Amino acid sequence: MKLATLDTLDVTGKRVLVRVDFNVPLKEGRVTDDSRIRATLPTLKRLLAEGATLFLMSHLGRPKEGPEEKYRMGPVAARLAELLKREVRYAPVSGPASPEQATFVAAAPAGSVTVLENTRFDKRETKNDLEMARALASYAEAYVNDAFGAAHRAHASTEAVAKLLPSAAGLLLEREVAVLSKLLANPDKPFKVILGGAKVSDKIGVIENLLNVVDEILIGGAMAYTFFKAQGGQVGNSLVEDDKLALARELLEKAQAQGVKLHLPPDSVCAEQIAGGVATKIYPSDAIPAGWLGLDAGPAAIKRYQHLLQGAKMVLWNGPLGVFETPPFDVGTKAIAETVAQLDAFTVVGGGDSVAAVNAAGVAHQISHISTGGGASLEFLEGKTLPGIAALSK
Ligand code: 3PG
Repeated sequence: MKLATLDTLDVTGKRVLVRVDFNVPLKEGRVTDDSRIRATLPTLKRLLAEGATLFLMSHLGRPKEGPEEKYRMGPVAARLAELLKREVRYAPVSGPASPEQATFVAAAPAGSVTVLENTRFDKRETKNDLEMARALASYAEAYVNDAFGAAHRAHASTEAVAKLLPSAAGLLLEREVAVLSKLLANPDKPFKVILGGAKVSDKIGVIENLLNVVDEILIGGAMAYTFFKAQGGQVGNSLVEDDKLALARELLEKAQAQGVKLHLPPDSVCAEQIAGGVATKIYPSDAIPAGWLGLDAGPAAIKRYQHLLQGAKMVLWNGPLGVFETPPFDVGTKAIAETVAQLDAFTVVGGGDSVAAVNAAGVAHQISHISTGGGASLEFLEGKTLPGIAALSK
């Protein structure tokens, strides 16, 4: 699939509708992590330099019944103004495609930047509604989609609208697609993948698809215990998906048949409950006593994974190795963040917790590509066609 890019879209003197993923965390009316906003700046600056007038639209959270005060785009517009160092227009109207919004849009001076209200304040958004898409399209003469994080959603602002205006991918979306496509199509070898997280069910599609291209998969997080139990291991009270045991066995067999080494963490940091400051013990991951839960990669697992990653030319990491949000069970995830950052390889990190870990470790600048997509990057890696991207194909 070939993407239409900014190189082929004339925006000079035009009003341009730009879909971004400004679904960012907020606290007390302020943005607490602006990485997704920063990631769109190259696209926004380029469009402004080419003489466009911008109308940015994004969803924020999952409002259910129309407008909700806590999901208004005001704090996002304010942060964008600080980052762009220029005025950003925003009005707290009832919806992104409402009559008040249309009036506010019509009054936009040439070369200005306007942030539209949360696209999900209009219930037609998630239905990929054509009428809503038409109302949005009427604001502009061209459409740019830079919202990789929302590309797996077939919504009015990501899919339907792209068909109504001359459209192209923004620089962020273009780079995300280029990097993730390379991982799947012709990765530099050896290609090693670290997959963590609580549930194997969230990663089945990714594991199956990656088995075609990777050399080794290093499993971490609670999903490892489903693999251990599937092989007869004792995992105490660790989180296990009992309905996925057969599938875990199948994945182990498939990996073996395809010559992919699938590694499991040899030991675990365990406790009797998930809480900060509790007593911990190290147990072999397949011999955890009843009453104890595996909550982080143990010291031998960390050492082994650090060793296994050496020599890799391409590395993908998605998902934490332990209960990262509750120290002391953040040690394995932090150690892997530091190790990945130091590798002489092309490194890609995706998923909220892994990205938070590289940020917390202060090594984000040493990662080759940090994906802005959570669900979107997983679906891409599963080999699925993402509707927001398909709508931009030439
Ligand atoms: C995300 O945060 O992964 C994207 O913004 C998509 O959000 P959604 O899962 O609410 O569609």
